[in-house]
Amino acid sequence: MQSSSLYIDGGFVEARSRQTIDVINPATQEVIARVPDASDADVDAAVAAARRAFDTGPWKESTAQERGRVLFRLAAIVRDHAAELAELETLNNGKPIVESEFDVEDVATCFEYYGGLATKIHGDILPVPDKALSLAMREPIGVAAQIIPWNYPLLMAAWKLAPAVCAGCTMVLKPAEQTPLTALELAKHFADAGLPPGVVNILTGLGETTGAALVRHPGVDKVAFTGSVEVGKIIMRSAADTLKKISLELGGKSPNIFFADADFESAVDGALFGVFINQGEVCSAGSRILVQRPIYRKFLDAVTSKARTITIGPGLDRTSKMGPLVSRAQFDRVRGYQDLGKAEAKLAIGGGRASGGVLERGFFVEPTIFYDVDNGARIAQEEIFGPVAAVIPFEDEEEAIRIANDTYYGLAAAVWTRDIFRAIRLVKNLKAGIVWVNHMQPTYVEAPWGGYKQSGIGRELGKWGVEEYLQVKQVYINLNEQPIGWY
Ligand code: NAI
Ligand code: MG
Repeated sequence: MQSSSLYIDGGFVEARSRQTIDVINPATQEVIARVPDASDADVDAAVAAARRAFDTGPWKESTAQERGRVLFRLAAIVRDHAAELAELETLNNGKPIVESEFDVEDVATCFEYYGGLATKIHGDILPVPDKALSLAMREPIGVAAQIIPWNYPLLMAAWKLAPAVCAGCTMVLKPAEQTPLTALELAKHFADAGLPPGVVNILTGLGETTGAALVRHPGVDKVAFTGSVEVGKIIMRSAADTLKKISLELGGKSPNIFFADADFESAVDGALFGVFINQGEVCSAGSRILVQRPIYRKFLDAVTSKARTITIGPGLDRTSKMGPLVSRAQFDRVRGYQDLGKAEAKLAIGGGRASGGVLERGFFVEPTIFYDVDNGARIAQEEIFGPVAAVIPFEDEEEAIRIANDTYYGLAAAVWTRDIFRAIRLVKNLKAGIVWVNHMQPTYVEAPWGGYKQSGIGRELGKWGVEEYLQVKQVYINLNEQPIGWY
């Protein structure tokens, strides 16, 4: 078992806090590591290091080229250590190893993208009607607190770290208490990548202690958060005290909409992939499957019989297509919704804990499909964050749009049809930050990621992601040597 410390000011240090958190393998419930629950004093130390690095350290004078090269080196290091990072991710999070391998590749790609973007960020010269140079300069916002969830532990760290490093910020990252191991592993390579001390600091700890202390800290200029709507609201309120800039990515209840003219086989695949990938622990999960009446029964039967073939097992076993849920709490939550669904709708498959053999040891649940679900039901309105789908029938385009938008979330949506005109009408009418046509879930670092409505504030990835870490300074340079001559 590994005992970890905090990464502050360029090195691993003992926590001032004596409190620790047990990190478990969700496939076996074994404790695999113990990490500190960082205290206010630890938060102070990390923020002070980030503050120094931003205000007076060499990072302040770093060029865009240098920051870009740091990110390229990080990408190369991630690729060199891909196998061990993927294995550690699966050990800690539970997801199938093949999915961890994709995640690690996406991590490297994310560092590369922002490595390249570093040299493409620039200000503007504005054509003001005077003898003057009017400039809009882009400057890093300062010290960022970055709080991330457990569903894609290393990838979420990369989505936060890469744009902030690119912009020239310094940061304190808090991984989720359930899954801190890959972020700490990555930290071992920060110095080799050329990150000066204090630029990136990592604090392990609980949300209510370490996370909350970071959000209210006066030395922090910006908070970037991914997680639940509930905590997003707490963070927004707390950040108001010091008017910190915030960005929030808060999940959803995304509709995956199937019209009768869609390619049937692709549609069935897309429905399953949309909701069951990563055990359904995906903010953009297509957890509401809307199906047009003429194909409703056939589609439900096909999706159900294909779901039956999903191999559930420990993530490290290469034959597993679905691993355990991340924690006891998430297991209980999903089990609760499985039971609720039986009261609210009809059950096509699943509905319980996955049992037998090695499955007894971990937080495994069955892929679950409810049908004839009313969109007003709790299983259609609340984010479950597990492999639980609600299948909802609809008559026509108008009804599909109405049901799809009848949610307080607005992260993603997908529509399947061969009719290009209809597809574009849907794209325009769906209230979601991401709309896929004839696919669900593809995610690219080049493209913006974020939600409408209560799914969040701000955008990650692409050129939009770095904007969240920049602010604009207006500069006026007088070129007229004459006095103003007003008085
Ligand atoms: P959470 O929102 O409580 O945790 C996410 C992160 O926020 C963790 O790092 C946690 O330590 C931190 N945090 C918690 N309370 C905080 C506070 N008061 N101040 C600052 N940071 C705080 O999510 P949780 O409890 O792990 O999962 C509950 C539900 O949230 C899930 O079932 C799912 O519906 C949703 N969720 C959505 C995610 C997404 O990607 N949008 C990711 C994780 C959870
Ligand atoms: Mg929570």
